[in-house]
Amino acid sequence: MNNSITNVINKKPDNDAEELQIIRQCTGIAKELVADRSKAAGRALTYHVTTFGCQMNARDSEKLAGILEECGYIREEDELDADIVIYNTCTVRDNANQKFFGHLGSIGAIKKKRPDMIIGVCGCLAQEESAREKILSSFSFVDLVFGTHNVFDFARLLVRVLTRDVTKGKGSTVTDIWDDTDLIVEDIPVKRNFKYRSGVNIMFGCNNFCSYCIVPYVRGRERSRKSADIIDEIKRLSADGVKEIMLLGQNVNSYGRGLEEKISFAQLLKKVEEIDGIERIRFMTSHPKDLSDELIDVMAASKKICRHIHLPLQSGSTRILKSMNRHYTKEQYVELASKIRERICDIAITTDIIIGYPGETDADIDDTIDVIEKVGFDGAFTFIYSKRTGTPAASMPDQVPENVVKRNFDRVLKKVQEMSMTQAMKNEGRIMDVLVEDVNRQDTSLLTGRLSNNMNVHFPGDPSLIGQIVDVKLDECKGFYYMGTLKEEK
Ligand code: SAH
Ligand code: SF4
Ligand code: F3S
Repeated sequence: MNNSITNVINKKPDNDAEELQIIRQCTGIAKELVADRSKAAGRALTYHVTTFGCQMNARDSEKLAGILEECGYIREEDELDADIVIYNTCTVRDNANQKFFGHLGSIGAIKKKRPDMIIGVCGCLAQEESAREKILSSFSFVDLVFGTHNVFDFARLLVRVLTRDVTKGKGSTVTDIWDDTDLIVEDIPVKRNFKYRSGVNIMFGCNNFCSYCIVPYVRGRERSRKSADIIDEIKRLSADGVKEIMLLGQNVNSYGRGLEEKISFAQLLKKVEEIDGIERIRFMTSHPKDLSDELIDVMAASKKICRHIHLPLQSGSTRILKSMNRHYTKEQYVELASKIRERICDIAITTDIIIGYPGETDADIDDTIDVIEKVGFDGAFTFIYSKRTGTPAASMPDQVPENVVKRNFDRVLKKVQEMSMTQAMKNEGRIMDVLVEDVNRQDTSLLTGRLSNNMNVHFPGDPSLIGQIVDVKLDECKGFYYMGTLKEEK
């Protein structure tokens, strides 16, 4: 490797601007390296990014794709045919790990047939030490491993992979895991998955340390982006045709803490509302303990903020909530939800519920079911508790036996489905705003769009409507979605 490349890839940045400069230099170098390989192969080189996990990962993957395209790779739909595949992983529950390792095992056979294929693993699972050790020891064909803190540094990692000494065999995997970072580098290319909507990070990490959750360990401490940077990014997205944005953070309600400027999440929303061209604003996720009256006021007065809030309950039992370190009681949650429903008409409230947390009894499940009935959730993700090594809950006594968890899970799921069906039926027959997203995959005579409350609707229409907000009559509720007809006027 020539010295100038070595110098660039080993440079340590002192601030965001310096890092950006290094990234730009690395992008230039990677471009040349990819062009050389492409010439030798006599064809363009291709990439595929496979994403597991949440919206945060989805957004990170768009950044990885942006950098890969900037370096000269073109998108390949089939992961198995790509010259470089990056797996952006999740580790929130153990089944996410098992699913990924199973998948990676099958890729090993492909890599044997195509040794030039580059395989990278990043994201939350790679950030976690024991899972990372497993990748390095059991899947030594992986070429690149990096974590959650250095996604923006990917161009440099690409240069390292493309110039590494493969003759070193097992030891040739490029591994770069940062424990943390103060850098926030956002001005890098992004390849969006959707033309009309986009996620926007407003903060990174989490400080809440819910007792069951691994996220704070793999995503680091909470850091908010400056509001001016967020607004600039959204203005650029709007200029590029985006109509709907989703503000992303593990706990958006604590946005602004630690920033020099004094700004709350509600105030940020007001600024976003003023941006021309943005027609819909969503956000994810709201922690009930930090949801302010100011936020409810801003939502109630807004024309653009969608009528949907995802408000993870986790458990309806005050005793369990205390052990989970959630900082609210059953009564406080129910009161908050009813205040939201009173103040913001037609709002959909969705939630996350964990079943089988250590020490959970039938009486605790009764409380959870009681909250589901009282709030009348429009939708809920129900998860079986998964022990995450290193979290406080993992070493608690009274882990609940599998058969009891299964029984309780079915009880909760049944109630959730009943409530969400009741809620969805309320809108049958109404005419509502729909952002048209795509042609329906199963039936191409139909279009698929999304209501402000986040439900999908399918209706006959012309693909030229994609990207527009139209009025649709919700003729028939099918549980999770509606069948509708287009209305010219309300
Ligand atoms: N920051 C978000 C959630 C991120 S994780 C929030 O606090 O709302 C998404 C969901 O995964 C959580 O809401 C929780 O319901 C679930 N989850 C997290 N850790 C889990 C575990 N160990 N077992 C089962 N579900 C878990
Ligand atoms: Fe996990 Fe709690 Fe943070 Fe959500 S708020 S990411 S559940 S620790
Ligand atoms: Fe999974 Fe990481 Fe998101 S653990 S849920 S991808 S923050």
